[in-house]
Amino acid sequence: MAKAFLFSEFGSVDVLNVQELDVPLPGKGEIRLRQRAIGVNYIDIYHRRGVFAPKLPLPSGIGVEGVGVVVAVGEGVAGFYPGDRVAYVGGPPGAYATERNVPAARALKVPDGLSDDVVAATIFKGLTAEYLTHRCIDVQVGDNVLFHAAAGGVGSIACQWLKAKGARVIGTVGSEAKARLALSNGCDDVILYRKQDFAARVRELTDGTGVRVVYDSVGADTFAGSLKSLRPRGLLVSFGETSGPVPPVEIAQLGSLGSLYLTRPSIAHYTSDRKEFEAAGARLFSALLDGTIRPGEITGFALEDAALAQAAVENRKTVGSVVLKCS
Ligand SMILES: NC(=O)c1ccc[n+]([C@@H]2O[C@H](COP(=O)([O-])OP(=O)(O)OC[C@H]3O[C@@H](n4cnc5c(N)ncnc54)[C@H](OP(=O)(O)O)[C@@H]3O)[C@@H](O)[C@H]2O)c1
Repeated sequence: MAKAFLFSEFGSVDVLNVQELDVPLPGKGEIRLRQRAIGVNYIDIYHRRGVFAPKLPLPSGIGVEGVGVVVAVGEGVAGFYPGDRVAYVGGPPGAYATERNVPAARALKVPDGLSDDVVAATIFKGLTAEYLTHRCIDVQVGDNVLFHAAAGGVGSIACQWLKAKGARVIGTVGSEAKARLALSNGCDDVILYRKQDFAARVRELTDGTGVRVVYDSVGADTFAGSLKSLRPRGLLVSFGETSGPVPPVEIAQLGSLGSLYLTRPSIAHYTSDRKEFEAAGARLFSALLDGTIRPGEITGFALEDAALAQAAVENRKTVGSVVLKCS
């Protein structure tokens, strides 16, 4: 029997329940994994709260990524064999489990030299950082960039990558301890955005010009200031809403603030093509192996403590990445 977390109503961490269940044989195009480590992501919290439209049909599993060993292969699957160590991103939520079936199309073989914890900590967040910094916009040497929540999971990886690409990186963070971490992850300057007017500080730091790109996953609390932090023709990448949804935008505002660009990207649209997905995975694994990016702080919880892990992320208690470990 496998153990898996399910929830039958939307709400606080209390709705998460661990259950024993029989995993069916892998269906067409699926592989069955004995899981070793699972990444906890903010999207899991949105799913549990039911804030995304369309909401997940209930009861639902939870979790969008994991690392494990293939134990069975369904009909029509090519390139994966029992014993392969793989990581996956996407497919139906349900990663908080000891064993499960996942679409082979969402899996990548993991190279030797990267531990299960490191891969679980970085596969979803690292692939997000990859498309944000290389493909949503290909950040160039000398670009001024603002990254909100710079000490978080995605932020820690993205800031290292931006620095490696030669950008000048300004990070925002919620505490002094997070500021130290953001600086060690390549931020040139850090702003405590709960205490300081970050848009005004960005102007000071850029001699009044503003930045070429703002990466904003905080949403409601930061969106207006993010627009004000951009230079003319700059790009706002609004990729999350940890503080709440962004209010409707008046398009004319983009003109009056300097012919700005705005995008609301999703990792799904940057990894749905298999070739792009494999290339992004190869870029991430090679950046981890050659040290371009370090996995950063990883906080481990036992799978059984998934609710505690989510609460820590939700309450801004974590830095870097949180991983659930299967015993
Ligand atoms: N669009 C995509 O493709 C995509 C893919 C992956 C992730 N994301 C988004 O990226 C963001 C980061 O995800 P993550 O898993 O790496 O999480 P995370 O950054 O480790 O955690 C969220 C951080 O957001 C900051 N925050 C600001 N206001 C907050 C509030 N009201 N409540 C809670 N946290 C708040 C906190 O940092 P401070 O204390 O420093 O403020 C907190 O630590 C999320 O919004 C997620 O949805 C988007």
